[in-house]
Amino acid sequence: MKADALDAFRLDGKVAVITGAASGIGEATAELFAAAGAKVVCGDLDVEGAENTVKRIREDGGEATAQACNVTSRDEVEALVARAVDAYGGLDIIANIAGAMFPGLIEDLTDQDIDAGINLNLKGVLYGCQAAVKAMKDDGGGVILNISSGAIDLAYEGIGVYAFTKAAVAMLGRTMALEVGRYGIRVCTLAPGSTLTPFTTWRLHNDDGTLNQEAYDEFLDYARDLSPIGALGESIDQAYLMLYLASDAGKFATGNVFRSNGGQTTTF
Ligand SMILES: NC(=O)c1ccc[n+]([C@@H]2O[C@H](COP(=O)([O-])OP(=O)(O)OC[C@H]3O[C@@H](n4cnc5c(N)ncnc54)[C@H](O)[C@@H]3O)[C@@H](O)[C@H]2O)c1
Repeated sequence: MKADALDAFRLDGKVAVITGAASGIGEATAELFAAAGAKVVCGDLDVEGAENTVKRIREDGGEATAQACNVTSRDEVEALVARAVDAYGGLDIIANIAGAMFPGLIEDLTDQDIDAGINLNLKGVLYGCQAAVKAMKDDGGGVILNISSGAIDLAYEGIGVYAFTKAAVAMLGRTMALEVGRYGIRVCTLAPGSTLTPFTTWRLHNDDGTLNQEAYDEFLDYARDLSPIGALGESIDQAYLMLYLASDAGKFATGNVFRSNGGQTTTF
């Protein structure tokens, strides 16, 4: 029988944990994985947002559950993975997506600024990796997906903590891929280019909290100008790459940083 070209991208019977699933890239990834057949555990600090993601997945006929999780807590990340094992019988995929911007010039950074960035963007991912390996190593392996950023390719003023924590995530993934390949675990890192989400507007608000439309439009023009195709990303663009890497279509992919970034890093 002729195979369907899309069979290799299906996730039927797979169990996936996704952090940052309340919004943006995590939300799109949770919905796409569920549409591809996975049972999805949606973790986020914003549990109401995660529950909304689950609601939409269920309305579309998918299977998902939400759990409050602050990824800066090792215990809460372990509990998130335990929820997948308890509810769905194991863990096949984890996508460590939760993260945030930490603005500030390097010369001004306090210990508090540095710790906050490391705790969320680096340790939050590391805890997810460690909890996943424990669940996967004696259970047939799996796939670990970590979010880095295009900020590891180009330096921008004023986002030093963000950039160096994301660079550390990329190296974490490469090292870990070497260490856990023997258990049948693949580790892939994504370095997204500018992707329209609530995160994109982090520095574009007025003092009263409303969006500064002029600054936002300027940012969009700037980001489009960086791309040879004049494009900005959408969350689904990152989710499609996640799906490729998580599924059998990506079974030869591990130990690398993968970029869906509109070519933003080719223009320099
Ligand atoms: N959007 C972009 O242009 C872009 C580019 C490169 C990398 N990224 C990375 O992609 C990831 C997702 O970003 P996004 O654009 O979807 O942003 P987003 O703000 O839409 O989503 C981030 C999610 O992480 C959650 N979160 C924040 N702190 C948390 C914590 N301590 N514990 C658990 N959840 C927490 C938030 O509640 C939110 O739901 C981030 O790691 C970001 O650095 C985004």
